Amino acid sequence: MDILEVIKTRRSIRKYTPDSISEQEINKILEAGRWAPSADNSQPWKFVALRDPEGRKRLADILTWGKFVSQAALGIAVAINPKASECPVEDGAAATQNMLLEAHSLGLGACWIGIYGSEDEASAKKVLNIPEDERLLSIIAIGHPAETPRGMRRRLAELTFIDEYGKR
Ligand SMILES: Cc1cc2nc3c(=O)[nH]c(=O)nc-3n(C[C@H](O)[C@H](O)[C@H](O)COP(=O)(O)O)c2cc1C
Repeated sequence: MDILEVIKTRRSIRKYTPDSISEQEINKILEAGRWAPSADNSQPWKFVALRDPEGRKRLADILTWGKFVSQAALGIAVAINPKASECPVEDGAAATQNMLLEAHSLGLGACWIGIYGSEDEASAKKVLNIPEDERLLSIIAIGHPAETPRGMRRRLAELTFIDEYGKR
C-alpha cells in the first residue's frame, strides 16, 4: 500500500478478535515508533509493550475511555520525559501515530487512547510503574480487527487556504 493509502484507510479499531500478535509484528510496530521525528532528535520516549492480559485488565479497569485495551492482543504505552525535549508532547504524538500506521499496514487494528493530562493519567502511571518525573502520553490498543468503522473527514477545500489564511 502507498503511504497515503495507509493513512487514509487507517481507522480507530476498538473491537478485536482473540488472535494474538507475533513477536515480529510487535517489533515492527515499536520500530515505527522509534523512527518518529522528534525535536532536536531528542527521542524523549519510552515504550511499554503491554503483553500480559492481567496487566491490561488492571489498566482497563481504571481507564475511562480505553476499556477496550483489555480485549486487545497488545497495548503499547508511550511515556515521555518532559525534561528531555523542547516538544515532548509533539514527539510522543509523532511516535504514537507512526505505530498506529504500522499496525494498520500489518493488517492489525489499533486505537490511540489519549492519557496525557486526563483524569486517568496519575492512576495509569501507577499501574504501569512509570517514574514520577515522566508523563504518560498515550496508550495504543492493538489487535486483529473485528469491526470496520467508516471514516469521516471534512473536505480538503474547507480547511486549506493558498498563500495566507482565509485566501482560497
Ligand atoms: C489525542 C487523541 C486521543 C484519543 N483518545 C481516544 C480515547 O481515549 N478513546 C478512544 O476510543 N479513542 C480515542 N482517540 C481516537 C479518536 O476518537 C479517533 O481518531 C477519531 O474519532 C477519528 O476516527 P479514526 O481514527 O477512525 O479516523 C483519540 C485520538 C487522538 C488523536
